[in-house]
Amino acid sequence: MEIRVLTEADTGIFWAVRLRALREEPEAFGRDYEETKDRPLAEVAGVLREEAESADDFTLGAFAGVAGAEALIGIAGFRRHRGRKERHKGDIWGMYVAPEARGRGVGRALLEELIGRARALPDLEQIHLTVVATNAAGHLYRALGFARYGTEPRALRLGDRYLDEDLMVLRLEELEAVRAYDAAQVAGDEAVPFEQAVAEIGRDRPRP
Ligand SMILES: CC(C)(COP(=O)(O)OP(=O)(O)OC[C@H]1O[C@@H](n2cnc3c(N)ncnc32)[C@H](O)[C@@H]1OP(=O)(O)O)[C@@H](O)C(=O)NCCC(=O)NCCS
Repeated sequence: MEIRVLTEADTGIFWAVRLRALREEPEAFGRDYEETKDRPLAEVAGVLREEAESADDFTLGAFAGVAGAEALIGIAGFRRHRGRKERHKGDIWGMYVAPEARGRGVGRALLEELIGRARALPDLEQIHLTVVATNAAGHLYRALGFARYGTEPRALRLGDRYLDEDLMVLRLEELEAVRAYDAAQVAGDEAVPFEQAVAEIGRDRPRP
């Protein structure tokens, strides 16, 4: 499997996967398939082109070799907030793995790549996402260190049904503390107790 940033040249395959996600998983995404499906491809290409001009926003694709050809099997987007007071934050959007490729680590690999790229952005401190409270994807986010900081009741309405959404955040400095702690453990160093490491950065949260 290869994970890379999608470019304008990927517009067609990206949009096919994105629309499949919205059509087949209406409960997982805020965007509606019917409202999205007629968006001109040129507009989608424009977004991918703009992303290529700055590291702040990107869309990742996971590719697998299928019958000798490369197939896009998963996508995940990252968008940094723009304003001076909000540039320390960015959002994950559109996380999706095709059903036939699930349960094999593709989602985790996409997220790890996304977090790695976001960590490299100067002054980026927090990665946010929203996930429908009943969605099993929440397990994956928690496993990678995201913590829930709230729930929006009735965030989405599908016909006569309402779905709550969990608001989650990954604080990158906290992630650094966890990684440093793990590295010290592996190296057998005299490590700072984990609770102390977390307390030092002003948070009290169970280890992911
Ligand atoms: C969520 C999604 C992206 C996960 O992709 P995936 O490739 O199947 O995930 P992975 O195989 O990398 O699994 C990652 C971890 O999450 C856990 N996980 C995944 N699905 C799970 C489920 N249904 N229940 C519990 N845990 C689950 C796995 O146990 C795994 O943990 P591990 O690495 O410790 O074994 C995929 O299921 C999907 O596209 N769902 C529909 C769209 C969606 O809900 N997107 C999220 C919108 S916020």
